[in-house]
Amino acid sequence: MGSSSRSHKRQKVDHVDDSTAEIVAEQSEESLKSHPHPTTESSMIHHDQGEFKNITRHKTTAEQGETLENGPINPFTGNKFTDRYFSILKTRRDLPVHYQRQEFLNIFHSSQIMVFVGETGSGKTTQIPQFVLYDEIPHLINKQVACTQPRRVAAMSVAARVADELDVKLGEEVGYSIRFENKTSPKTILKYMTDGMLLREAMEDHNLNKYSCIILDEAHERTLATDILMGLIKQVSKRRKDLKIIIMSATLDAEKFQNYFNDAPLLAVPGRTHPVEIYYTPEYQKDYLDAAIRTVLQIHATEPEGDILLFLTGEEEIEDACKKISLEGDELVREQGCGQVKVYPLYGSLPPHQQQKIFEPAPTSNNPNRPGRKVVISTNIAETSLTIDGIVYVVDPGFSKQKVYNPRVRVESLLVSPISKASAQQRAGRAGRTRPGKCFRLYTEEAFRKELIEQSYPEILRSNLSSTVLELKKLGIDDLVHFDFMDPPAPETMMRALEELNYLQCLNDDGDLTSLGRLASQFPLDPILAVMLIGSSGFECSEEILTIVAMLSVPNVFVRPISARKRADEAKMQFAQPDGDHLTLINVYEAFLEDHGDLSPHQWCRENFLSYRSLTSAKNVRNQLYRLMEKYDLPIVSNYGEIPDAKYWENIKKALIGGFFMQVAKKKSNNKNYLTIKDNQDVMIHPSTILSKEGEWVIYNEFVLTSKNYIRTCTIVKPEWLVEIAPKYYNLDHFQKGDVKLSLERVISKVESKRNSK
Ligand code: CDP
Ligand code: MG
Repeated sequence: MGSSSRSHKRQKVDHVDDSTAEIVAEQSEESLKSHPHPTTESSMIHHDQGEFKNITRHKTTAEQGETLENGPINPFTGNKFTDRYFSILKTRRDLPVHYQRQEFLNIFHSSQIMVFVGETGSGKTTQIPQFVLYDEIPHLINKQVACTQPRRVAAMSVAARVADELDVKLGEEVGYSIRFENKTSPKTILKYMTDGMLLREAMEDHNLNKYSCIILDEAHERTLATDILMGLIKQVSKRRKDLKIIIMSATLDAEKFQNYFNDAPLLAVPGRTHPVEIYYTPEYQKDYLDAAIRTVLQIHATEPEGDILLFLTGEEEIEDACKKISLEGDELVREQGCGQVKVYPLYGSLPPHQQQKIFEPAPTSNNPNRPGRKVVISTNIAETSLTIDGIVYVVDPGFSKQKVYNPRVRVESLLVSPISKASAQQRAGRAGRTRPGKCFRLYTEEAFRKELIEQSYPEILRSNLSSTVLELKKLGIDDLVHFDFMDPPAPETMMRALEELNYLQCLNDDGDLTSLGRLASQFPLDPILAVMLIGSSGFECSEEILTIVAMLSVPNVFVRPISARKRADEAKMQFAQPDGDHLTLINVYEAFLEDHGDLSPHQWCRENFLSYRSLTSAKNVRNQLYRLMEKYDLPIVSNYGEIPDAKYWENIKKALIGGFFMQVAKKKSNNKNYLTIKDNQDVMIHPSTILSKEGEWVIYNEFVLTSKNYIRTCTIVKPEWLVEIAPKYYNLDHFQKGDVKLSLERVISKVESKRNSK
């Protein structure tokens, strides 16, 4: 690919393409502006915090809410309810939570914080926020209701459903906000959002003033952001007595939440689940994927009507299984006269319109003994976040992708790991939503009893906390040691985070936020990437670093189908910038933006084994980061075509070091392997690399743990740049004796003698 054909000058931000997408930080500021809603007397009060107490909250009954719901006029829009609305309303009135509406309101009125638990599918996520809306009619007091979700997919999907249920357009009265995508408007009164987004908003607005009620949903998942939000909201609740808080969870751990929130009252919706028969395999399954596919096909061939839900661990595996099951399912139709099978994938990065397909009904069949069937193959999302009706059979191989963090070597990675007993039970429960069901566990009963832990560990205990610590500092929480965590993280993890942020110059030696740290926290990025982006103007290549950061923030752009690996690898090599995977990402992105003649961008991506979806989302992310840079007056510059090529790429590498100086590996002498500096981990460069020659020193984007230790996305750098750009980190007093230290000593003395001779 001729990199000469591109021109950075034409890279103006595309304002048309993503009109719905706004930036997080901007949005938070909006909360301080007045709301353009019709105001009533009481709404005038809300900007004046001192008078919160004076707002008399509405206290409605369930009956009043239902009367409003019965129409004919939608109280939130003033429009007449549609027929579709009434048909959905009928099904909603059947959900278990409906029968508890009055009880819910009683507790909601009498207590600031409540804990609400109920079986998955009982209607918590979709109905409770509406109970609150009808009780508060919050637009009349200029406030919003927020409902957090650990997963982007769930936030989008549930918002779409609730917009339908309320008979409004998605993005208007009901919207969602996830990282890099904000589908809300000034009209929005109910906002589904990821827990991470609410946390970002809290950084701008410590009292979360724009909300009258915050619902932390799926609290049992104990994501990092939810845990921090719980601590934060507990504090805010003391300052803002008018703020209502609902902690919602599947039926686990309710007591722990109650205790944490000062003995908050509990409402538990009795489950309406049917019995689920559990089957185990008699022996250990070596290849769980294969076993899973066989089990699904067997269920289809032999079991009575009912849809199948199979849990797998990630996109690639799921897509692969979908193909195989579709193919073999068709064979069953032809050869054994079985009913039709429709297979749907479900995972986080799936575009919304494809996600919605899981709700389509199963294919019909004329022969009741040979039913048509829907098969959904999902990650953990379907465990509690999304409820799919009609599931009767669950296939559970017992694994999920989980984050693990080892503070000693500072490595965070996603690993396919055994699930917990609690997860296994949740998964099984998915089979009993509509009628008695069956769950096929692809492990032995003994493994279940002896090998699975009771509960998964909260994410805060298995994460790198740099981002979190930066967020907490930005939230004004200085005393991290005494922050009221539900489960405090390990001191070593905390220390590592503080140390990393200090090296990045986001915190000074006293642990206080620096101006760089404050600025970095404005970017919805890992601090390493944020610092790198901010510093890139100084290396005259912020255009290029913007591209790299955007490309690193989206799912892998390279597609490598099993059936065409060789061709895919060849296609990738056309974009290769020989000494850097990071640099190659720039070439790919630039090529994507070029005019492809007769080919649509979509076709062009297909021909070049690139993911159109990832590239478009990189473009969107880049635009947003671009605007953030503009907002904070960071020069957006490029030297492309103005300086010699070698110098051009060198500048980019230096800018990369500005963030990645802690992620460096050095080649071992007479050996193909590398050693990570400081932590001395033996690693290999991931085979996906385009590096054609071996560099002695490389920076890497991530550490991948599989059967071997790999570093992935690597770029060759010079050691003298490391020492120049990050002198504090490369203070050799902090290095263990060894090859790395020796080499660096030589580098430093060379740099110094050069300096002296000048
Ligand atoms: O949060 P919880 O698991 O208690 O239930 P929910 O997500 O509120 O779902 C309640 C019901 O709403 C489900 O059983 C589905 O029937 C329906 N629903 C739907 O049809 N489409 C969606 N996207 C989400 C929910
Ligand atoms: Mg839910």
